[in-house]
Amino acid sequence: MTIASRAKKITTHTLQEMKQEEEKITMLTSYDYSLARLVDSAGIDVILVGDSASNVMAGNDTTVPITLDHMIYHAQCVVKAVDRALVVVDMPFGTYQGDSKNALDSAIKIMKETGGHAVKLEGGIEIIDSIKRIMTAGIPVMGHLGLTPQSIYKFGTYSVRAKEELEATKLLSDAKALQKAGCFSIVFEKIPANLAKAVTEQLSIPTIGIGAGVDCDGQVLVLHDMLGITKDFSPRFLRRYADLGATIDSSVKAYIDDVRSKDFPNKDEEY
Ligand code: KIV
Repeated sequence: MTIASRAKKITTHTLQEMKQEEEKITMLTSYDYSLARLVDSAGIDVILVGDSASNVMAGNDTTVPITLDHMIYHAQCVVKAVDRALVVVDMPFGTYQGDSKNALDSAIKIMKETGGHAVKLEGGIEIIDSIKRIMTAGIPVMGHLGLTPQSIYKFGTYSVRAKEELEATKLLSDAKALQKAGCFSIVFEKIPANLAKAVTEQLSIPTIGIGAGVDCDGQVLVLHDMLGITKDFSPRFLRRYADLGATIDSSVKAYIDDVRSKDFPNKDEEY
């Protein structure tokens, strides 16, 4: 029996044990009750209420506009649905950078109002004071390095990060600083697989990759991307497990045809 299959509820300690036993950690995003319920009952280990809600739910081009109240709303919907998975809530842009008191207040608000189990913040050394201060309240923190979408206006593109030695060295020292500060896990987004492998081997906390190769301790994808609901986004790392976009399109078209032709509702479907 695996650690994950034994666990009635996944905690940060479960993830630590999974790393030690070299058991892969599974993580997907969710933003609403109905899909979170399906994702949790299918047996996922971690549900991330990602600020990708800004793109996927609200139709924004970036994750920058989403607010703390929006994130709290999505997290409340998800937490209601979840029995087993660890629920991690993204702290949105502007709620933790540059002011550790603001970071602590925002994290406490998330924990109090949503019932989520942990928060995730993007960045390394620059935000270490915020991370440490959040932890003084006993709130578990997941880090996020590599491509950090909240800094899109600094980098200008969503291309692969840390390909050059200088950036790779910074990523390693950031990862070690996050671990030393007490983060229970770190997401690596869009970095070379060999770098993700090397850093993962040097850390005692689990790493979760998205576009970071197979040697991270776990993997994460955006739910709507892997289900084929979002169509305009096809990075190399994305594997589509379904084409729900096509299923929804043909179902809606069939419904329109049935209503127009008076095939729906039929005698069995009326009172
Ligand atoms: O917001 C999000 O969905 C994320 C994942 C891409 C890791 O941060």
